[in-house]
Amino acid sequence: MAKHFVITLDGPAGAGKSTVAKCLARRLDASYLDTGAMYRALTLKALRLKINLEDEKALTELAKKTVIDFKEIPDKSLHVTLDGEDVEKAIRSAEVTNNTFYAARAAGVREIMVGWQRAIAKRRSVITDGRDQGTVVFPQADYKFYLDADFDERVRRRLKDLGDAGKNVDVDQLKKDMYDRDQKDFARKVGPLKKADDAIVIDSTGLKLEETVEKVMKYIKVKS
Ligand code: C5P
Repeated sequence: MAKHFVITLDGPAGAGKSTVAKCLARRLDASYLDTGAMYRALTLKALRLKINLEDEKALTELAKKTVIDFKEIPDKSLHVTLDGEDVEKAIRSAEVTNNTFYAARAAGVREIMVGWQRAIAKRRSVITDGRDQGTVVFPQADYKFYLDADFDERVRRRLKDLGDAGKNVDVDQLKKDMYDRDQKDFARKVGPLKKADDAIVIDSTGLKLEETVEKVMKYIKVKS
């Protein structure tokens, strides 16, 4: 693998992409690019400004006037910033999560996000996670992975994450929301959730985080 590299991790919600990506970034001395956080941040701004989320043009215009970036915090992890404000926590609310599909289905918004993501990857090596990273954004990536897990296991992981964050959630509601979100991600016309033809599929059902990371690492050959 070249000194400057891109590794993509796509897959449905709760498949463990972000946790695996963070581990890989540490092990390979690269940056973790959380592309979902970018769509979430734009959604947060639209909700705050009470912009009609059905209006794709308005969302695209909003994206043009918005600066979404990442800043490193002392523990070395990256937090997403919205016009300079650290919104890492605010973008994880159920309201933002359940409304992000509006920005994600807007072709104009996606074009802008794709440009930003490519610009970030020009500056540094990245482990990027999302839905369209291997198919649309980085078709020439050094390695492409498609991370999956059984639906029930994905729900259990999400429940644990939310519990760890001190959030109380109704299991049935969470199941319904995750199912709906996956369906929308698979079905949208632009940048849908799709396995790239040349992506390596990793099924993390029943695997611990370290086991999943090891499975991925087996494929990666670093040139010295
Ligand atoms: O990855 P995360 O669950 O934070 O993503 C939130 C939402 O953002 C996804 O459900 C999807 O609709 C959208 N997204 C996307 N393209 C990406 C990353 C996320 O459309 N590359």
